[in-house]
Amino acid sequence: MPGMSDSATATDPLVATVETALAEALDRADARPDRLREAMGYALLGGGKRVRARLLLLTGDTLGLPRDSLLPAACAVEMLHAYSLVHDDLPAMDDDDLRRGKPSTHRAYDEATAILVGDALLTLAFETLTDHAGLAPDIRLAQVRRLARAAGPNGMVAGQVLDMAAEGQSVGQPALEQIHRLKTGCLLQASVLLAADAAPDLCAGARHALTRFADHLGLAFQVRDDLLDITSGPEATGKPQGSDLRQGKTTYPALLGLAETAAYCEQLHERALRALGDLTADSRPLATFCRQLLDRSG
Ligand code: IPE
Ligand code: IPE
Ligand code: MG
Ligand code: MG
Ligand code: MG
Repeated sequence: MPGMSDSATATDPLVATVETALAEALDRADARPDRLREAMGYALLGGGKRVRARLLLLTGDTLGLPRDSLLPAACAVEMLHAYSLVHDDLPAMDDDDLRRGKPSTHRAYDEATAILVGDALLTLAFETLTDHAGLAPDIRLAQVRRLARAAGPNGMVAGQVLDMAAEGQSVGQPALEQIHRLKTGCLLQASVLLAADAAPDLCAGARHALTRFADHLGLAFQVRDDLLDITSGPEATGKPQGSDLRQGKTTYPALLGLAETAAYCEQLHERALRALGDLTADSRPLATFCRQLLDRSG
């Protein structure tokens, strides 16, 4: 399946766990009318790599937290991410017709439906995040706040605004780094820290190590996405090739060239792995996942 072409993703049992939990959460939402329910399912289910959910659940494993207690948060980040993709593809934004190997939501339905599907997934993310799952109310409140901060006007939305403002402009590396950290890094970092929030006894050193790990990984993930936009076709990414160039986006390859971008991505991953090394808990599954993300082709 495009977007899931890496065998490590296709065979990861966590993907199926997340997929089932998302389908159940969508059922419970009892969306109406039927067209909205169907369009939400179209945008949310089947096709995503579930990177954010897997990162969250693997962090939880590292911290010894029960998986079930983190499934609502894992679903919430994926709903929020799916909303961001639906809106990102709209003609007013990146104007892309293909997502996860099929027509973007506004192409399969219509623009108004896509906007409303985004709204619905964003709100459902927060409803889902408040599912009990055995977590104390103060933890759930911290998670709600964490996700809102990461996704909102000082996080992903800010990054999207800056990304669009930078179209056709010449932007230096510090500004580009800021865009990438905001539009993509914030939600990836939140995925890790939403798990840490559920471990209130975690020492400050471990929290700091996870924060640095996620910061480097989040930036690396978008740098690699920029590279793949040039080097990988839709059969691997499920997205149109060359979209960034067409839209006049400022990207790492545009700024540094392909070889230097690949080297920078590698460097960021090494920094992420070094930060993980500061944890006393067994972080090998997280490290393996981190390497898979660096090597991904879609
Ligand atoms: C694509 O994210 C958008 C970015 C923030 C880079 P993913 O590559 O995680 O997309 P899916 O969820 O697997 O489709
Ligand atoms: C996506 O950045 C950031 C989002 C918040 C969705 P891109 O615009 O590069 O993502 P793709 O390449 O369309 O998936
Ligand atoms: Mg975009
Ligand atoms: Mg885009
Ligand atoms: Mg991209």
